[in-house]
Amino acid sequence: MHRTPTYRDKPLFTPGPLTTSRTVKQALLRDLGSRDHEFIAVVREIRERLVALGGAQVGTYEAVPLQGSGTFAIEAVLTSTVPRDGKMLIIINGAYGRRMRTICDVGGIACTAIEFPEDCATDVAAVQQALAEDDAITNVAVVHCETTTGIINPIADIGAVVRRAGRTYFVDAMSSFGAVPVDLAACGIDYLVSSANKCIEGVPGFAFVLARRDALLATEGYARTLSLDLLAQWRGLEKNGQFRFTPPTHTLLAFRQALEELEAEGGVEGRARRYRANYETLVAGMRAMGFTEYLPPERQGYIITSFRYPEDPKFSFDEFYNRLNDRGYVIYPGKVSDADCFRIGNIGRIFEADVRDLLGAIRDTMDAMGFKP
Ligand SMILES: Cc1ncc(COP(=O)(O)O)c(C=O)c1O
Repeated sequence: MHRTPTYRDKPLFTPGPLTTSRTVKQALLRDLGSRDHEFIAVVREIRERLVALGGAQVGTYEAVPLQGSGTFAIEAVLTSTVPRDGKMLIIINGAYGRRMRTICDVGGIACTAIEFPEDCATDVAAVQQALAEDDAITNVAVVHCETTTGIINPIADIGAVVRRAGRTYFVDAMSSFGAVPVDLAACGIDYLVSSANKCIEGVPGFAFVLARRDALLATEGYARTLSLDLLAQWRGLEKNGQFRFTPPTHTLLAFRQALEELEAEGGVEGRARRYRANYETLVAGMRAMGFTEYLPPERQGYIITSFRYPEDPKFSFDEFYNRLNDRGYVIYPGKVSDADCFRIGNIGRIFEADVRDLLGAIRDTMDAMGFKP
């Protein structure tokens, strides 16, 4: 496969920001005014392409980009799509589900949660029961790829239950959208969030919501904040093609280029193939050295993998991390609450050859530190 060149920064085996192509970075090198016709056309094109990536049509679904990191868009959905007298049900099996609950608590949004262990995918029957038992619940939220562990939650099955129960459905697909196929309508999704610097391989600076138009139009008066008011942001974009407040112009230009490169790679399917190959090479190599994954393989997605710390007292994560970093490889600390783990991401502009190089560096680092997994 053709490898789009990157600058010679260290490859990032992280959940983001990620390694990006040189051509994506080069697309930043312009100063377009936010009211410039060219820029407005870029924003329109991005919005249309995002809806298409979700397998939908503009008019049925709308893309609403928002300034800030992914959490800002999650906060926008949570604070502007729950009715004033409504209640959110959050399905939790990791840190990002817990963060959604914190956002609701801070924003004064009534919320209840159904929590599963971090190594277990959501139990759909339990969600169905929670909805049957509490009529006050108006909205349901779940994380698609819980980046805490790398587990993939069954968003289509949950969507079917939520739709049957007549509630509004929100999916945080931050670390999966663009690399794990999602059909918005088939999954019954009303709102989905992702950001520029994940699997679409742009640079940080904005996030986006894909909203079912009819659901969004029904949220008049729900917003609890001004800058994160999702309906107002969409109306602003519809009115004159502009963001309400200063847009991250350079990031949007880079993102348009990133979307081109996603298409050139064969779209979501093509990207999924590369990431899956990265994942398979990584896991086979790590197992051969004696490392074990936190999740059982059938629950593990190909986005990011959590590996357990070796029990050997000669292992220290800080030293392991620093030695790899000194050799030019950036891995990531763990986030699992009940097990010591570190994480290795398979996403961004990295290829199997990069993963093999990383595996070689891990082998050398193990030998130098003298531990055995
Ligand atoms: C599933 C998920 N949700 C939310 C976030 C938060 O995104 P951000 O750090 O861009 O605010 C992340 C970040 O990795 C994530 O993976």
